[in-house]
Amino acid sequence: MSAGVPDRVALITGASAGIGAELARVFAANGHRVALVARRAERLHELAGSLTGAAARPPIVMACDLSQPEAGDAIAAALAAQRVEPDYVVNNAGFGLVGPAATIERAAQLAMIDVNVRALTELSLRFADSLERHHGGVLNVASVAGFLPGPNMAVYYASKAYVISFSEALHHEFGRRGVRVTALCPGPVPTEFQARAGFRPGRRSLIPALSARAVAEAGYRGLMDGRRLVVPGLANRLVPQVMRMVPRGLALALVGRFQARRAR
Ligand SMILES: NC(=O)c1ccc[n+]([C@@H]2O[C@H](COP(=O)([O-])OP(=O)(O)OC[C@H]3O[C@@H](n4cnc5c(N)ncnc54)[C@H](OP(=O)(O)O)[C@@H]3O)[C@@H](O)[C@H]2O)c1
Repeated sequence: MSAGVPDRVALITGASAGIGAELARVFAANGHRVALVARRAERLHELAGSLTGAAARPPIVMACDLSQPEAGDAIAAALAAQRVEPDYVVNNAGFGLVGPAATIERAAQLAMIDVNVRALTELSLRFADSLERHHGGVLNVASVAGFLPGPNMAVYYASKAYVISFSEALHHEFGRRGVRVTALCPGPVPTEFQARAGFRPGRRSLIPALSARAVAEAGYRGLMDGRRLVVPGLANRLVPQVMRMVPRGLALALVGRFQARRAR
């Protein structure tokens, strides 16, 4: 890094667990300096310690609650203080809650929108100039849930439909500026997600699970290849195809029944 030019970092949210921790490992293994964001600072420091050596420059750790409206300002200030700017932004942080929408605490569901939608939107847009300067990109972690209506997990499914729609539109807009934008749509992945969502332990999914590592690698490759949408796993790739043929009413009934059985 020369004296006046900020160093580049891949900003990765939700890096304290699951898919985000694997994305951080994959980015670091491919030579990127990473800046890690989540609430649990000790987990981030642990991960950063294990990555030191894999990357040329040490990871940056930023403990931050993305449900708070000032999170974007805090992240931008922390990056500026370290004299770095993002070439890649990976919006992975997110969570779901299972159960009928009217029975789940409203504040918790609104916080889900703050993390899954508002923070993702802010961080996708905030660093656009720096992403363009560095010919970088945005990787937004959506879900196959974004292709379906989701009774008994209504806000989560809707938040992921937003992520797909927003990211595809941004792929089109940012593409003209030489910035890649990819929506990564995993199916089931065993992480802390299931416990946090309130799934009954041991309940299996209809679709075979993939590892967080396999999903992270598919997302990284897809982003670098400039793909609009990455759906890892054959069974998951069938979901959007099948959804085009299934009447919406039937899809609602099937998903509603399936999610109701998963709730504790
Ligand atoms: N696992 C699946 O089956 C699956 C399937 C499709 C899509 N996804 C998506 O993949 C992404 C990663 O999920 P995961 O499965 O890896 O879940 P996870 O193991 O629960 O990890 C979620 C990550 O998000 C962070 N996070 C949650 N709330 C946050 C907040 N308020 N502020 C900052 N960070 C926050 C968590 O960090 P802290 O708790 O430390 O803040 C954690 O690092 C999510 O967007 C999820 O919707 C998951």
